[in-house]
Amino acid sequence: MTVITTIEDLRVLAQRRIPRMFYDYVDCGSWTESTYHANSDDFKPIKLRQRVAINMENRSTACTMIGQPTAMPVALAPTGLTGMLCADGEIKSALAAKKFGVPYTLSTMSICSIEDVAAATGGHPFWFQLYVMKDRDYIERLIDRAKAANCSALMLTLDLQIIGQRHKDLKNGLSAPPKLTLPNILNMLTKPHWGLSMLGTPRRGFGNIIGHVKGIESMGTLSEWTAKQFDPALSWDDVAWIKKRWGGKLILKGIQDVQDARIAVDSGADALIVSNHGGRQLDGAPSSIAALPAIVDAVGNQIEVHMDGGIRSGQDVLKAWALGARGTYIGRAFNYGVAALGEQGVTKALQIIHKELDLTMAFCGHTRIGKVDRSILLPGTF
Ligand code: GLV
Repeated sequence: MTVITTIEDLRVLAQRRIPRMFYDYVDCGSWTESTYHANSDDFKPIKLRQRVAINMENRSTACTMIGQPTAMPVALAPTGLTGMLCADGEIKSALAAKKFGVPYTLSTMSICSIEDVAAATGGHPFWFQLYVMKDRDYIERLIDRAKAANCSALMLTLDLQIIGQRHKDLKNGLSAPPKLTLPNILNMLTKPHWGLSMLGTPRRGFGNIIGHVKGIESMGTLSEWTAKQFDPALSWDDVAWIKKRWGGKLILKGIQDVQDARIAVDSGADALIVSNHGGRQLDGAPSSIAALPAIVDAVGNQIEVHMDGGIRSGQDVLKAWALGARGTYIGRAFNYGVAALGEQGVTKALQIIHKELDLTMAFCGHTRIGKVDRSILLPGTF
């Protein structure tokens, strides 16, 4: 087997190991996928300044996100259907994050439920991501379940009131569990390792939803279900209501515009995430790394600014940090890991990114992430 040294190695292995519909779900953006690709492409022109003959001993990438300690400014993003990439994928990812010392965010659209992850991680706090659906009683119960599970932050996603069209998902008829159509069966037969491990777990549907919402036993395809259930009327009044009901740390995800960032500050949230949902929603939006500096300049001294989108290396994390992000999230990078190698694959993804971040920080002349600022970037390249 190839020696795995990059996130790209994990991606290649993941593609080989899991059914096409789940691989495509991870590795896709909406419409032309221009924003999806821009997210990672736009890191490349940003150049780092190398410094030499500076003592590089005793380095640390440790810092805090929303006041909570983390081994590096990297959290696992909430990603849907992770438990279809690998049996019990959310549990395995949460365990890897716990052992590495970085935050894990469980998606509303996970396969393992909030309670499953809480039980498996022994009450170690994780973050919970919330989508707002029309059924507000269900949303209240979901918030209460996250509280009962000792979640230490609620991440409210604001950019998915309606779902961006992802051609691959529609063509594949994406659903969980997968529909037993002939093309799906034929494709799954070529992934025996995945198939056997999925047969070994009872968790093959949306654990936070099935059995918790009246009348929903099966969700049909993801796009149909989302279109029916998610609330297109979501407003800032809902943010205020959710903040009150939750009562703990609140992170707002999906901000791309300075005007919205200012409203996010007024909402009293603890952090906002500059995000275009991994290029899965508004195709044609700027990359997150391009949108970040203006938002940091406008509100960075009033609210903690995080970012996600396009991070595939520790160099990307360092560039985002230098531009003012006080936390970043990896989504696809750890999804490739869990799909390729389960918990070990997520650990591998974290190790790869941490090592790249640590060494790159040192090459730029720093031993403490907290001291890194825009001066490590070559003027004119960002
Ligand atoms: C859901 O979060 C998605 O992007 O598919």
